[in-house]
Amino acid sequence: MLSSEVSQLQHFSMAMYNTRTRSVSFLSDIFLMVGSSMVAFLTIWALWSFLTPNVKQTTPAFSAQLYPSVSCANYVSGPDLRHDPADQSFYDDPTLNYAIDSPPIKNWDEKRMEWLKQHPTLAAGAKSRILMVTGRHDIEIFYNNVLLQPKMFSFWAKTPTIKAAMLAHPEAEWIWWVDSDAAITDMDFKLPLERYKNHNFVLHGWLKLIYETKSWTSINAGVFLIRNCQWSMDFMDVWASMGPQSPQYDKWGETLSNLFKDKIFRESDDQSGLVYLLLKEKEKWGDKIYVEDEYYFQGYWVEILGTFENITDKYKQIEKDSPLLRRRHAERVSEAYATVWEEYLKGAGYGRGSWRRPFITHFTGCQPCSGNHNEMYSAQTCVDAMQKALLFADNQVLRNYGFVHLDLLDPSAVNPLPFDYPA
Ligand SMILES: *[C@@H]1O[C@H](CO)[C@@H](O)[C@H](O)[C@H]1NC(C)=O
Repeated sequence: MLSSEVSQLQHFSMAMYNTRTRSVSFLSDIFLMVGSSMVAFLTIWALWSFLTPNVKQTTPAFSAQLYPSVSCANYVSGPDLRHDPADQSFYDDPTLNYAIDSPPIKNWDEKRMEWLKQHPTLAAGAKSRILMVTGRHDIEIFYNNVLLQPKMFSFWAKTPTIKAAMLAHPEAEWIWWVDSDAAITDMDFKLPLERYKNHNFVLHGWLKLIYETKSWTSINAGVFLIRNCQWSMDFMDVWASMGPQSPQYDKWGETLSNLFKDKIFRESDDQSGLVYLLLKEKEKWGDKIYVEDEYYFQGYWVEILGTFENITDKYKQIEKDSPLLRRRHAERVSEAYATVWEEYLKGAGYGRGSWRRPFITHFTGCQPCSGNHNEMYSAQTCVDAMQKALLFADNQVLRNYGFVHLDLLDPSAVNPLPFDYPA
């Protein structure tokens, strides 16, 4: 699922997961940005070190803003990404064409300077800013495909990896585990961290299925947020003690199989273990675990796939009605437009049955990395479904680059977007 460029970057890869990877591989052909792990690493370092001294000072001191609350949402200051002034710029020129084989761009330096003048917070430090193409969302990535505990295979590989990531990233408040078969399919969506401010662990699931049905699939352990704190360290030790490296592994397999009647294999697994802790050690852990079911924190691809077409139509109709949303803009100010989109998405709902883009589409059962897909689907069904989801997401990124995939099953074909599309 990960492109060859990304695998070359190995542990230091800062490229985005799944859909982002697609953007990286496509765009790096154009910009020749990502060269080696060292380049990527230095790029991030350079970006960080150059941006940091130039941040807009909204709170008096770094240390004071570091822990104003447990939420890290207010922590990042810097360029104003939520504002695009109405002043005319080269983006408003109807003859502007993004394609390489269109008439050459003229006076680019002046146009670019003009745009920077209109965006002073982005102009600050522009001289030394290096771009690495990663798509949307300001999220750093730790890409790892090594078992940090050799016995903790497959779904058990999470806890060792997360622990290491927590120690390696004391600057990060949250670690976000995303299975390699999950794709972000709404590039505008932001995790509602404020909602989780009193919790340390967030995952998708259904309370009724946990506490009444006692099903091992009442939650999905393939995507979760875990706070970088002592609670999590403790929790992961307990959770990991059910794993294959533990002398208790066989005993846990029995315990979990006895408790969950719908469990389909005898071995202890991390997901059942998690439901066990919710059920049996609720007082100890439960009040810090947030079970999210109000949006697609992760969603089952079979349920989601058929909705892409109608969702695309709905979004297109909204763009037809809104000249502001059709306006071309720099990728860096997309967040401002995401806020405008929200106005139009009020009636869309969230999750199942809604026409909002699903946040994360999870290809549970397709197992693209091992190739051992669930017998319920054919390999081709999985491949086509993943292709569609990835291009659905890619289109949201590509729009800012002036292109679109018209056919979600044909990754190699892109078309330029006409000015003022889709008026
Ligand atoms: C898509 O929209 C059409 C027309 O409104 C509707 O008939 C159809 O059921 C919708 N499809 C899905 C999968 O929701």
